[in-house]
Amino acid sequence: MKTLILYYSKSGHTRDLAAAIHKVIGGDMSELKSQRKYSSSYGMTILQAGLDKFRGRIPETEPVSFNLNDYDVIFLGCPTWYFTMAPAMQQFLSHADLKGKHVFTFSTSGGSPKKTLEDLRMAVEKRGGTMEEQLQVSYKKENRMTTQREIDQWIRKAADRLEFLK
Ligand SMILES: Cc1cc2nc3c(=O)[nH]c(=O)nc-3n(C[C@H](O)[C@H](O)[C@H](O)COP(=O)(O)O)c2cc1C
Repeated sequence: MKTLILYYSKSGHTRDLAAAIHKVIGGDMSELKSQRKYSSSYGMTILQAGLDKFRGRIPETEPVSFNLNDYDVIFLGCPTWYFTMAPAMQQFLSHADLKGKHVFTFSTSGGSPKKTLEDLRMAVEKRGGTMEEQLQVSYKKENRMTTQREIDQWIRKAADRLEFLK
């Protein structure tokens, strides 16, 4: 089974998580990039993204270099933005064909993920994917609140599930 780990990350938390998953699961890894030029300042990004949300605007993502058809298993990761998945992942999931694919999702938040996992699940299923395990990792500023043990356990569970699916 061929695996792709695809993530969007603005400030690095989700990228770190993707790397930890990749270390155990292997497969290909790719970063989703937004065409929206967000500020390097957290506060400004909050304003930019808030304005987009208010206007109902979901910025385009950069073209991707992989072919989704090549993969049976997809890990999708993104931060929570405004209580749901970040717009880049919304954009990707608005058109991705996930039929016949096993999908795992992981997300990071500042402690209020609210509907992020539920919305990821709904979007994955709408695109025809089979939702497998989901992970939510919380941060308080730069400190991770979710323990390394919890993360390791989740990755191990995902790896076991992949063994079973083989
Ligand atoms: C525009 C924006 C909106 C955010 N909205 C939320 C939110 O609704 N709930 C929350 O818990 N954290 C929120 N956060 C915090 C991020 O989810 C958190 O810092 C995440 O770990 C960032 O991931 P990254 O480093 O991969 O970009 C927001 C951050 C930004 C930039």
